[in-house]
Amino acid sequence: MIMQKVIFRKIRIKSYKPGRSVILNKKKVIKLSANESALGLSRRVKKGLSKIGSLSKYPDSKSKTLRTEISKKFRCNFDQIICGSGSDEIIQMICQLFLRKSDEVIVPKFSFLMYRIYSGIVGAKVIYSKENNYKISIDNILKKVTKKTKIVFLANPNNPTATYLTALELKDLRRRLRSNILLVIDDAYQEYMMNKDYKSGLELFKNKNNVFILRTFSKIYGLASLRVGWGYGSKEIVQALMKIKPPFNVTKIGELSAIESLKDKKFIDKSIKHNKKWADIIKANFENFNINTNEVSANFLLLNFDKSKISAKKFKNKLEEKGIIVRSLEVYGIKNKLRVTIGNSKENKFLIKTLKSIFSNV
Ligand SMILES: Cc1ncc(COP(=O)(O)O)c(C=O)c1O
Repeated sequence: MIMQKVIFRKIRIKSYKPGRSVILNKKKVIKLSANESALGLSRRVKKGLSKIGSLSKYPDSKSKTLRTEISKKFRCNFDQIICGSGSDEIIQMICQLFLRKSDEVIVPKFSFLMYRIYSGIVGAKVIYSKENNYKISIDNILKKVTKKTKIVFLANPNNPTATYLTALELKDLRRRLRSNILLVIDDAYQEYMMNKDYKSGLELFKNKNNVFILRTFSKIYGLASLRVGWGYGSKEIVQALMKIKPPFNVTKIGELSAIESLKDKKFIDKSIKHNKKWADIIKANFENFNINTNEVSANFLLLNFDKSKISAKKFKNKLEEKGIIVRSLEVYGIKNKLRVTIGNSKENKFLIKTLKSIFSNV
């Protein structure tokens, strides 16, 4: 018999490369490369996990208890919430549901990579809008719209630039965008936002059928490794997503932890205060060495080395010699800049000490 090869689709995308979390020959590292929670897991979540009970049965496939708690906390409709294995999985399902080969998706050039990756996997064409000084440009997004545009994805505040669109700007975008284009607003870092002219996607567009909101438990709630996120959209969209959702995509541990973390207001308030305090301190310290950053908004800073005595690449290598990992932005096509996550107090102090010692030797 002639051996025939099994054939599969050619996948022409660059896969996601997570930020490094290890350094060769270093037992302990300080990881400031993935915008995770500075304060780890709240005590309430740790305590709550002792009530987990049996793990030998499948979890609730519809995450009903978590969706009920989310609807209470954020004053939104239970039927319009879908939970996922991270917001990542929700992005994937949105692409599966909305996109076909001939469709176009607009994403800002410097935006979270999974929007372009999942759009590319289902065969849609990804069109990049240009930023204006690292801020998303509404005019440029609108310029890229064609008859084929199906979705516009954006994160607000944006990763990796840490800039944001004001509430007025977001409303303006929705008003000027054709009504049959889905606007997906990723609120991943919204809890950190103290800026008065900002409003989250959920606050602004709860009742809009052509806006879909993404939220995650991986950032301020400290559950990155448990993989829990949620999406909010019209009843019709959520019902359709429920049909394509893997049946047990949120684990029992993930669901319970997410519920406990939502109830821990003290921990969230503490995390917000910690973030603002340290982001200001770290920003000022970097600026002392002519490394400028954006206005503080999320739990990370974009460090610009254009006026610094050392290049971003050299600085990153020097940090790694001391066991500190930050994110290079070359994958986004952003040159001579680094992204640093705000860590816990000890990590931040060590970062600042290392920064000073690096510059004392140049
Ligand atoms: C803007 C944005 N959206 C979504 C995610 C992924 O979140 P999750 O862990 O819920 O998949 C990230 C993670 O870095 C992010 O920066």
